[in-house]
Amino acid sequence: MANPMFRAWLLWWRKWGKKEWAIAAVGFAAVLFTLTLLIESGTEDPSAIGNRPLDLPISADDPVELTLLRNAKDRGAFCLDGSLPGYHFEKGFGSGSNKWVIHIEGGGWCNTIESCSYRSRTALGSSKFMDRQVIFAGMLSRDPSQNPDFYNWNRIKIRYCDGASLAGHPESEFKNGTKLFFRGQLIWEAIMDELLSMGMAKAKQAFLTGCSAGGLATLIHCDDFRHLLPKYTTVKCLADAGFFLDEKDVGGHYTMRSFYQDVLLLQGVDKSLHKNCVSKTDPSQCLFPREIIKNTRTPIFLVHPGYDFWQIRNILVPDVSDPSGHWRKCRQGLQYCNSTQIEILQGFRTSLLNALDEFKQNKEGGYFINSCFIHCQTWSSPAWHSPSSPRINNKTIAESVGDWYFDRQEVKQIDCPYPCNPTCHNMDFAQL
Ligand SMILES: *[C@@H]1O[C@H](CO)[C@@H](O)[C@H](O)[C@H]1NC(C)=O
Ligand SMILES: *[C@@H]1O[C@H](CO)[C@@H](O)[C@H](O)[C@H]1NC(C)=O
Ligand SMILES: *[C@@H]1O[C@H](CO)[C@@H](O)[C@H](O)[C@H]1NC(C)=O
Repeated sequence: MANPMFRAWLLWWRKWGKKEWAIAAVGFAAVLFTLTLLIESGTEDPSAIGNRPLDLPISADDPVELTLLRNAKDRGAFCLDGSLPGYHFEKGFGSGSNKWVIHIEGGGWCNTIESCSYRSRTALGSSKFMDRQVIFAGMLSRDPSQNPDFYNWNRIKIRYCDGASLAGHPESEFKNGTKLFFRGQLIWEAIMDELLSMGMAKAKQAFLTGCSAGGLATLIHCDDFRHLLPKYTTVKCLADAGFFLDEKDVGGHYTMRSFYQDVLLLQGVDKSLHKNCVSKTDPSQCLFPREIIKNTRTPIFLVHPGYDFWQIRNILVPDVSDPSGHWRKCRQGLQYCNSTQIEILQGFRTSLLNALDEFKQNKEGGYFINSCFIHCQTWSSPAWHSPSSPRINNKTIAESVGDWYFDRQEVKQIDCPYPCNPTCHNMDFAQL
């Protein structure tokens, strides 16, 4: 039996992961919303919409092909099942030709032999099962109206297939016939080598980003990314919904902490974490972003919802913590929570803000903490930059991230608490 956290993730993934922009459509609770966009943009025949409303791309972006890593075999860089890891690449143009933005895909973690074996038979553990094409939307979009600052950069999406945020180590593999490859760190290194050889070694500007477990991977590797590039390169990092909290669940247990302990032990992740941290404290603490960013020198931006539905459903109220189902409705959407539950959710947001206390003083850092019930917001165009995007002080996420990246202005935005922001598009799992 798979771990409950992984099962919850997988369910989410099955529903959303395949068609990445589908989350935008459904997250916006709103076939209606999609329809409006489609009709306004005039790209589709509205009469066809009723058939498959969620399958229609909301952007003009074309799919981008999967590239399997050429040098991976020699480097021993394999997905969990031993297949080659991959990425999607779209070449920059014009003033973006020598600029590079990388986005690392998310998808939870595996913490046991069982859950990793299971994962090795899915797209999150094997390139055999990956879609050959993905849509580049949000911060990867090539459409300037959807992605004003990065649309013409070299854009890369790294596929996630090691189950440990690109930080597993082969020393932890089992020598007894269990065929699982823990090669996350090697995958990271091999992909970086390939991108450097494709021209990134001469980048003028570079931006490492990722969502969820990919946001965690971004934080883990941010300084290394800086060191791989020349001194003259402007290098910054962004984690989207990657600020996982070491908080107790509603049953009073540190579910996430023990989950991370298991992931770390299973895949030897401590070897990829900062020595300052690992030498001083329980290494699994060093996998929490609060600790990682203490030791990171490269400028970091956090895009994070105050009510991250993944964290609420897996850290605050994992299935095991709610055997009697009191939270069943509330976990589906904030509008189903009663006042006691809302108070607990507000407490969870406060824990997030407290965990960010030190980072708030960071001069080069930035953040956009909106009070929405959502998860990743940078790879869907409607969330990233559109007329109906979630905003803080009238700025979209794209505008805020651009302001920060290009030093146009300091961006330290914390939204007022739920339900004050009418621009939020809150997920409603009951509508699925
Ligand atoms: C291999 O070793 C691991 C760790 O000791 C153990 O958990 C696992 O069950 C073993 N697998 C097999 C197939 O014996
Ligand atoms: C909210 O729901 C929980 C669980 O069902 C219950 O224990 C609590 O008393 C409720 N609070 C209010 C104010 O209704
Ligand atoms: C918000 O920004 C838009 C442009 O993005 C502008 O047209 C509008 O006037 C702004 N609204 C306010 C209240 O400042």
